[in-house]
Amino acid sequence: ALEPPPGPLNDTSAKLGPDPAHPWIAAGPNDIRGPCPGLNTLASHGFLPRNGIATPAQIVNAVQQGFNMGNDLAVFVTYAAHLVDGNLITNLLSIGGKSNLTGPDPPPPASVAGLNTHAVFEGDASTTRGDAFFGDNHSFNETLFEGLVTASNQFGAGFYNLSVAGEYRFQRIQQSIATNPQFSLISPRYYTAYAESVFPVAFFIDGRRTDGQLDMTTARSFFQNSKMPDGWFRSGVTTGLSKVGNGIAAVFGRHPTIQPGGNTGAVNTYTLNPNSANFQNFCKLYTDFVNITIRSLYPNPTGYLLTALNTNLNFLFSPLESNGCTQVPAFI
Ligand code: HEM
Ligand code: MG
Repeated sequence: ALEPPPGPLNDTSAKLGPDPAHPWIAAGPNDIRGPCPGLNTLASHGFLPRNGIATPAQIVNAVQQGFNMGNDLAVFVTYAAHLVDGNLITNLLSIGGKSNLTGPDPPPPASVAGLNTHAVFEGDASTTRGDAFFGDNHSFNETLFEGLVTASNQFGAGFYNLSVAGEYRFQRIQQSIATNPQFSLISPRYYTAYAESVFPVAFFIDGRRTDGQLDMTTARSFFQNSKMPDGWFRSGVTTGLSKVGNGIAAVFGRHPTIQPGGNTGAVNTYTLNPNSANFQNFCKLYTDFVNITIRSLYPNPTGYLLTALNTNLNFLFSPLESNGCTQVPAFI
């Protein structure tokens, strides 16, 4: 039977991140890193296997221990990623590109290609990574980071905070509208785009600092080098679904006109998509993700694949029950 998701942390205090058991070691040539600076950092400190291949339970434990992510958020995001990008047979996920190390693949259209896979979880208008249309959706992009620095100078007196997050989120969307003919900003990406703008405020700021201001040296250390700064403390505040929802509301509130949509094959053709979930209907994020995104990868699962799929779908739903969402029936 599959290991169930781990429970919450016992000790949620601020404490040294790069402790003696978790030294930073640069990724080697065969170590996989990807579009998520949080998971990249956890791998480079050994909170996750340093090769970048992990089970969902390892990821939940690592994001809780390393960054004090709340259990509901950790479980929801981790199983969402595993269901679309991971190997449900071997229970392994690559935090970057496709890898043999996740084992033999289930039949297509399942892709099992890791977090770099475009459009099922990874998406456009990322903070420091380019759009897939331009060829690299996962590497640190110096130009984009400098845009974040400029916005932090302009709106945050040199620091990244929720106000800067709101401005830079808006700017990145405007840039993609103006340059990427295939720009897409529909659910689930509509949600993750805003969530990932909140994450640096929730998780990268030193835990002894409680003013919500992220300095640029610390920001670069995570975004570019996958490194907790020497002596860095993780946050003493647990950020789960409800807190991240408050952060999203603050970021969205800076430019509340942005609704789900995309360009239609040419730049500057942003067209609203009224079928996409938006911040008014969180449960639809979940139901569409299961019924559309996951189902399209697994139209006819059988045998152990079907069992593993339904078990992981149960894990995905578990943190949402208390949010009043209704579970999608098991796949048959
Ligand atoms: C971006 C996965 C936890 C911080 C991403 C992306 C993926 C991902 C697939 C790429 C989305 C995109 O920009 O197109 C996950 C999974 C997690 C997790 C499965 C498991 C819980 C975390 C944690 C942090 C974090 C704990 C912070 C400590 C970020 C940030 C970005 C991001 C800041 C935006 C990167 C950028 O474009 O500059 N994550 N993540 N994530 N993640 Fe994570
Ligand atoms: Mg992206």
